[in-house]
Amino acid sequence: MSHHLLLIIHLLSATIWVGGHLLLVFGHLPQALKEKNQNIILNYEKKYEPVGMTSLILLVTTGILMAYQYGVSIEYWFHFSTPIEKVVSTKLLLLLLTVVFALSAQFRVLPKLKNSPDKLPEMTFHILSVTLIGVLMLIFGSFVRFGGF
Ligand code: HEM
Repeated sequence: MSHHLLLIIHLLSATIWVGGHLLLVFGHLPQALKEKNQNIILNYEKKYEPVGMTSLILLVTTGILMAYQYGVSIEYWFHFSTPIEKVVSTKLLLLLLTVVFALSAQFRVLPKLKNSPDKLPEMTFHILSVTLIGVLMLIFGSFVRFGGF
């Protein structure tokens, strides 16, 4: 697949992933906290999850394919020795962190949040962390066109 087409799919997916999380943070989270109503978050998550997970899978797939086209194949990952490889390795580490937060939310926080709002502060921490990581992934991605870092 051409690099340009991969980049377009990557950017559309980034829009959904980061935009969806920013909408949650600025559009729904404040009201959920104010009203101590966890269902506002749970209802949003239920609708967003299929779209969000698809966009994350597409981000990883297109990101890795583009990394290969830049010559950054798996044997070079996490060496932190060339500028583009540094961007790719940093993004992969942030991806791992996102997966850790997602699993923690799924298995530790969400089951309890369904029954009581007591877990709202912990869920807020998870949401803010994943959103910040997403924004960082976007910013780091933009460094590639300037040669990496
Ligand atoms: C939340 C996840 C991610 C977001 C929000 C994201 C976002 C972005 C953005 C906005 C760009 C800038 C493209 C441009 O300057 O035109 C980019 C580029 C890039 N991303 Fe990601 N990305 C994510 C995950 C990944 C992953 C997991 C990889 C795989 C290692 C990856 C690899 C790349 C590469 C190689 C580029 C350079 C493409 C180019 O300019 O030719 N990204 N990304």
